[in-house]
Amino acid sequence: LNNGLARTPPMGWLSWQRFRCNINCVADPKNCISEQLYMDMADRLAADGYKEAGYVYVNIDDCWASKERDPKTLQLVADPKRFPRGIKFLADYVHAKGLKLGIYGDMGTLTCGGYPGSKFYMSLDARTFADWGIDSFKMDGCYSRTEDFTIAYPIMEAFLNSTGRPILFSCSWPAYQIESIPDYPRIAEYCNIWRNFDDIDDSWSSVQSIIEFYGTDKGNFSGVAGPGNFNDPDMIIVGNKGLSPSEAQAQMAMWAIMAAPLFLSNDLRTVDPESRALILNKGVIAINQDPLGIMGKRLFKNSGIECWLRPVTPVGSYAVAFLNLNDGGSGTTLKYTLKTLGIQETATFNLTEVFTGTPLGVFTADKSITVFIDVSSVFLGKFSKISG
Ligand code: GLA
Repeated sequence: LNNGLARTPPMGWLSWQRFRCNINCVADPKNCISEQLYMDMADRLAADGYKEAGYVYVNIDDCWASKERDPKTLQLVADPKRFPRGIKFLADYVHAKGLKLGIYGDMGTLTCGGYPGSKFYMSLDARTFADWGIDSFKMDGCYSRTEDFTIAYPIMEAFLNSTGRPILFSCSWPAYQIESIPDYPRIAEYCNIWRNFDDIDDSWSSVQSIIEFYGTDKGNFSGVAGPGNFNDPDMIIVGNKGLSPSEAQAQMAMWAIMAAPLFLSNDLRTVDPESRALILNKGVIAINQDPLGIMGKRLFKNSGIECWLRPVTPVGSYAVAFLNLNDGGSGTTLKYTLKTLGIQETATFNLTEVFTGTPLGVFTADKSITVFIDVSSVFLGKFSKISG
């Protein structure tokens, strides 16, 4: 969507994976979906270095609203107990910290969690969000007909656009069409980012199933990615319970190669220092945020080893990921050349290991490289073109 937003994949925080639809603020005041939760996360984004690294969106997900619209104005209203000062207050709060506020809704009659949807109210809801100072809107597709998506999502985009407020549009459109081939060119025309596949869970198997889906690239959705339009493989779960340190690194590496939005869904109040350092790793963020916005693709998959390649700047350079998905044995040593990866250029490249920034030498396309990849681990390298 060419609205000036998401020129590189958006970065921030999103509540769903970690906090779900916990509305019990009496029993669990610190973790329930409430204004306090989003204020706490905004505080952490601003104070702990995340904002400077690019993580600026604080995204509300489902279960923020009252079960009923305002009887007079028919507007959506935030749950008065959990959001006593309303969403506009929250938007002002995050804006004062130099951050942006995202909100969640649904194109059907209800959200996936059973809260009011935008069907019959799209124009009013777009206006309401703009009045509140919302910067991003995730529109889900529960309780609706998938045949309607091709019209309903563009209509909502037109209403958002007509508010005059820049609002990033996150669509769940193709995620409800996994069995068919979604109309990706149309989706990219009307959405800034879109979920293609199932929800992420806090586990390595969930991360692997997502990588497999994106590696298969059914319908060539990688081809429509670019500045303003990105495929969204769902949230970053680093800092939660489900991933080992090397699996966490693999998630960050693969989301960088895929030019994916980086929405953290963890508890920033308690993230351990190692996870935080990984989330803030400059090398991996630079690949994710590469201004060309080209989505990397899987080149091959063989005996549990996958190779992915993403063209990056300076033009003619590449980020390469080797992923070892085997969960037995003691790792694999791989020997390859850029030529075997399909790069025929006569250029010379500086190769760096991305997470540590370690220089690994100067390479031409036919000089072989040896890397060791442990099980459930990734090697992420950047070949920066130096001449040729
Ligand atoms: C769907 C979406 C999730 C989340 C929930 C909320 O499952 O895919 O990301 O928004 O709805 O109910």
